[in-house]
Amino acid sequence: MTDSSSKGVIKEGSIAQFMRKRTQLVGFSIERHKHTQYVAEFLDNALDAIETAHWKYKAFNNLRPQSPQIEYSVKPLNLNGARVKVTDISARLKELLEPLKTIINDEPLALIIIQRVEKPEILPDDIQGSDIEMYSFEAFDNGVGMRPVDLEKYGIYLASSKAEKLKQTRGSQGFGAPSAFSDAQNTTGKPIIVVSKHIKERRGETSVFYTTGENTKKYSVPPTGIQVPFKHGTYVQLSYLNVKYVRSYADEYVRQTALLNSHVTIIFVDPNGDVAIYPRRVNQFPPEPVYTEPHPESTSIGDFQDLIRNTKHNKLIDFLTKSFCRIGSKRAKDIIENANKDLRYKLSPNTQVKKLSDEQINALYKAFISMKYPSPPVDTVVPVGKEVLQEVIKKHFNAEFVEATTRPPTSSKGLAFVVEAAIAYDPNNPALNDSGSGVLYRFTNRTPKLRDNSDCAIWKAASSVNWKNYKIDRGDNGLPKGPVKLFVNVSGPFVHVMFKAQSKQALAADDILVKEIKLALEELGRKLKAHIVKGEIETRKRQRAQTLLEHAKVFAKSLATIEETDSELKVKPTYEELYKNIEEMILSTERKTIQQERKQHKPKTKTKRSGEKIKTETLDKSIPKLETKLETKPEAKPEAVPETIPTESLTQMAKT
Ligand SMILES: Nc1ncnc2c1ncn2[C@@H]1O[C@H](COP(=O)(O)OP(=O)(O)O)[C@@H](O)[C@H]1O
Ligand SMILES: [Mg+2]
Repeated sequence: MTDSSSKGVIKEGSIAQFMRKRTQLVGFSIERHKHTQYVAEFLDNALDAIETAHWKYKAFNNLRPQSPQIEYSVKPLNLNGARVKVTDISARLKELLEPLKTIINDEPLALIIIQRVEKPEILPDDIQGSDIEMYSFEAFDNGVGMRPVDLEKYGIYLASSKAEKLKQTRGSQGFGAPSAFSDAQNTTGKPIIVVSKHIKERRGETSVFYTTGENTKKYSVPPTGIQVPFKHGTYVQLSYLNVKYVRSYADEYVRQTALLNSHVTIIFVDPNGDVAIYPRRVNQFPPEPVYTEPHPESTSIGDFQDLIRNTKHNKLIDFLTKSFCRIGSKRAKDIIENANKDLRYKLSPNTQVKKLSDEQINALYKAFISMKYPSPPVDTVVPVGKEVLQEVIKKHFNAEFVEATTRPPTSSKGLAFVVEAAIAYDPNNPALNDSGSGVLYRFTNRTPKLRDNSDCAIWKAASSVNWKNYKIDRGDNGLPKGPVKLFVNVSGPFVHVMFKAQSKQALAADDILVKEIKLALEELGRKLKAHIVKGEIETRKRQRAQTLLEHAKVFAKSLATIEETDSELKVKPTYEELYKNIEEMILSTERKTIQQERKQHKPKTKTKRSGEKIKTETLDKSIPKLETKLETKPEAKPEAVPETIPTESLTQMAKT
């Protein structure tokens, strides 16, 4: 059969049609990770919105030094998606936020609630009879909120306020919410409920809707004004089907998110009714990452052509200097001059961009890409910071040793990034003992990554460190084995171009990235080794001094007895005085041996790439004075003088 239609056979699809059938591409297949995926999408959006409220509109400017004590409990959901009314939504919001009403407007808050609900009759028998359950998912944040016109676009594929510019945000493409909404509708047929009040709007707005294959919305409650019990924020409710919720996935995601986002209070209620509250631990927000124009090194020929096609600048010199960072007019003129070497029809700074021929564009790109440029500006990157990282990990794990480091900003593919890492170690803390993948915590832009572990550059770097050099056992997977946890966070716009797949779980192994992570972990390895060696020396030293002091007691007692019987002695020191003298002799000898050992184990000072010195903790500083330790030990105190002392032991002691 031949096609007789003059319209042809090729039809255009839409991104929505494609993605709605393939929500697994973004992590929404029916399996236990799906619960986590919901939490991740909405918690990330909440945190981005809370930060925007602060950075752009100065919300949460006067944070209390400490997050207030919070108690939270929640009633089961009683909204019926299909027939829901605005009054029902108001009632649910009131009920949900009642326990938080005293802090709702000044404490940055993200709340996630997952509850198991009755499966609707509409679902097919095989699902009715299976162990697949229906869950209600609710997310609330008191972030910036959405204006009514934005709320209408919320849930449409590729509709994002973050996608246009490559900036250090958690979301970036406008895929998160639409994919979640597609999965929710695909599995349950229930609509999505949204309420939002923008920080600059006088009233809140709500709607209940389905998203469609045409990438539009079909409302069951059209956008309607609503009274809300908060000044700004967003609430979402949806339902989805999934396998039974088990602990250690979604709850772990929230726990890790809280660890690196200690400027926000996060509450998570799981389907078992367990309430996890992570109070804010710092009283300042991180500074806002800055956006800059693309760096020439991150610009492909395709990007370059697109920029030329869409530029608002007429003159070539303006296009070059204003569309990219790190190109001043001198460098722009050099690019034009170099391009001219290959061209018959020469370019000038005043050439009209719109009139460039393909040949000229190619020559221009060749010259553009072969120049050397300074690295991109580093204020596009905001790391968590060594102090905060160290403090929150210490508080969280209560480990004997916690160290953190923030590497200097660097760049790759023309985009800046910063690697920071921390290590926690405690042989007496069972919570730290792990030999599997639980040793390594991976984060990008403060967002935890729980899947595709070994596929990620962070894992590759961590497993290529020779941990044995730092007195830590190494498992078959190359990661440390034993009472150790590692944390690596990579921040910056660079991260967005490095994800290996749409699910954003693993970073591609860029050479500079891997090297930076390795350097950070090795620095921490050296510090941990110094700590372990210090512990070993102290234990040995304490045991040896203890043994000697035990002998000293007997020796002093014997001497005191001899004195008593010796009538020629004029000065007769007491047992206590004798013991004190011998003790001092022992301790001063010990001090000398410690100093010798210190010299042997002094950590070497390494030089960083930038030529800066890395300060490593020296043993001198970290070994406490021997006396202080021993004085607190009850065993070291002299005992009462015994009645008789065997003469053999005295002679033996004197000989030794
Ligand atoms: N909780 C929220 N508060 C305010 N705005 C939000 C919230 N969640 C999403 N948005 C807006 O909706 C847009 C689309 O969200 P999403 O689909 O998750 O994509 P992305 O986060 O990648 O931009 C966001 O860019 C943001 O502008
Ligand atoms: Mg998002």
